[in-house]
Amino acid sequence: MAECSLAVLNGPNLSRLGRREPGIYGKRTLEDISRGLMARFPDVRFNFFQTEYEGGLIEKLFDYEDGGSCSGVVLNAGALTHYSLALRDAIAAVSIPVVEVHLSNVHAREPFRRESVLAPVCLGVISGFGEDSYRLAVEALLKKGV
Ligand code: DQA
Repeated sequence: MAECSLAVLNGPNLSRLGRREPGIYGKRTLEDISRGLMARFPDVRFNFFQTEYEGGLIEKLFDYEDGGSCSGVVLNAGALTHYSLALRDAIAAVSIPVVEVHLSNVHAREPFRRESVLAPVCLGVISGFGEDSYRLAVEALLKKGV
């Protein structure tokens, strides 16, 4: 497999994984998840980034677009998924394919989580498989030939 560059972006509150509502999000930290991806996909050059800020995710998407070396993005935008039109517009503004992921099954939870304003401008959505949601998103991007 050719070496390629994929970004894994995580938004608000995902820095707290491992101790944040473990019954819903599991006991693995973001660091554990990142290490798991690197071990699973040794040929992929990953760029991992987490921020509590909407604008941080938007800036990162534009940096990747301008840098020209990122061929796909796995994005867990946390609660921004459900209302951030600014993030949606940023995803639509870049040419990099973005896969929306969620650890939990957002459709089996509170009604407000069922709506994603990002999904229409993403390549696809993977939700409900815990840490495996990230792995499945990477596999999906690689299968698309990014
Ligand atoms: C989440 C689901 C969101 O509804 C929530 O706000 C999160 C995490 C998930 O990974 O299951 O912060 O994106």
